Amino acid sequence: MIYFDNSATTKPHDDILETFIEVSRKYYGNTSSAHQFGLEADRLLRESYQQASQLLSVNPTEIIFTSGGTEGNNMAVKGIAHAYQNRGNHLITTEIEHPSILNAFRSMEEMGFEVTYLPVDQSGIVSVETVKKALREDTILVSIMHVNNEMGTIQPIEQIGRLLKDRRYTFFHVDDVQGFGKVDLKWKDAYVDLATISGHKIHGLKGTGLLYVRDGIRLYPLFHGGGQQNNRRSGTENLAGIVSLVRAIRLILEQSLHHQDHLIQLNQVLREQLNQISEVIINTPENQAPHILNISIPGLKPEVVLHALEERQIYVSTQAACSSKKNDESTVLRAIQLPKEQRNSALRISLSYQNTSGEIILFVQALKRIINELKQVMR
Ligand SMILES: Cc1ncc(COP(=O)(O)O)c(C=O)c1O
Repeated sequence: MIYFDNSATTKPHDDILETFIEVSRKYYGNTSSAHQFGLEADRLLRESYQQASQLLSVNPTEIIFTSGGTEGNNMAVKGIAHAYQNRGNHLITTEIEHPSILNAFRSMEEMGFEVTYLPVDQSGIVSVETVKKALREDTILVSIMHVNNEMGTIQPIEQIGRLLKDRRYTFFHVDDVQGFGKVDLKWKDAYVDLATISGHKIHGLKGTGLLYVRDGIRLYPLFHGGGQQNNRRSGTENLAGIVSLVRAIRLILEQSLHHQDHLIQLNQVLREQLNQISEVIINTPENQAPHILNISIPGLKPEVVLHALEERQIYVSTQAACSSKKNDESTVLRAIQLPKEQRNSALRISLSYQNTSGEIILFVQALKRIINELKQVMR
C-alpha cells in the first residue's frame, strides 16, 4: 500500500494511539472536579499546556486546545471580528483559503462585516503589495494561510507579519494546518498574532488541534459554558486528545528538525520521475512546500486515474478532501487561472516523512502504465 494523501489526513502514529488509550483509561476524571481524579487530570492538563508552549516557543496562556483546524479557524475569524467590531468593520483574507476560513468570512459578511478576498498570482501566491493596498483604517483582521492545501504554495507570512506588526488593531491570523512541521515558521518571529494547527495532519488524532492567540488579544468565544480554557473555549477538555496532540507536535517537530531534507529529496525524485511522463504537467511551482505536488494529465478524468491507482493500492486525491466528493470545481485552481483542461484533470500527491523514494518510483511506474492504458481505450 502506498499512501500519498497525507494532506487529507495522516496515519496516526502508534505511540499517539497508545497515549490516547492510556490517558483515557487512567485520567478519566473531569479536570474541574475537586477530588483526586479531577486534580490528577488537571495536573496533566497543566503539564500539556507547559509542554506545548515549550515546543511552540509561546506562553501557556497563548494556547487554546480545539477540536481541529476548522474550529481553530472559525474561532480566530469570528472571535476577532466580534471582539473588535468597535475598532473596525473590515476583514481581509485570500481567495485560496480552506473552506473553514472562506465560509467563516462569508458568515461574517452576513453579519455586516466587509471582507476583501485577495487574489493570488498564477503560482498561487499573494503578494505583500496586494495586502498593503487592501489595508484600511478599519481593518481589524488579516487571515492568510501558510501553505496551500491543494497547491503546496507557501505564502510570504514573515513579510506580511512585518507589514502588520505596528498596526495595533489589525490582527494577523495564519492557518498553519498544512505548513506546521513541514515548512518552518516561527509564529512569534513572524509577528503572527493567531495560528491554527490540526492534529490529524501531523499523525495525531482527528478531533484534536490548537489555536495560538498572542497574549493580550481578546477573542469572543465560539462556545459559551463552564468557562474552561480561560473562558475562551468552554467544554470539558478532551484530555486524552490534548496529551496525544502534544505528543504529535513533539514527534513532527523532531521529524522536521532531523529529516526535513528527506521530504525535499522525495519532492525532487517525484518531480524528476514525473517529468519523464510527457502527458503530465506539474502545476506546483518549484521551491514550494516539499510535501504537496499538484499535477494535471489533460484529457484524462482525475477520478478515473485515482481509482485506477487505487486498484494498485496507491492512494492520492483529486482535490482537497472536503470538496473531492462534491464534484465542484476547485476554487484554488480557478483562482490561479489554471487552464480549464488542467483544472479538470488535477491530482494532488501529498507526502509524509514516512514515504520513501522507492514508493515514488512504483507510483510513477503505475501512473505511466495507467496513462497508456487509458489512452488506448480512448482511441
Ligand atoms: C489548510 C487547511 N485548513 C484547515 C483545515 C481543516 O482542518 P480539520 O480537518 O482539522 O478541521 C484543513 C483540512 O484539510 C486544511 O487543509
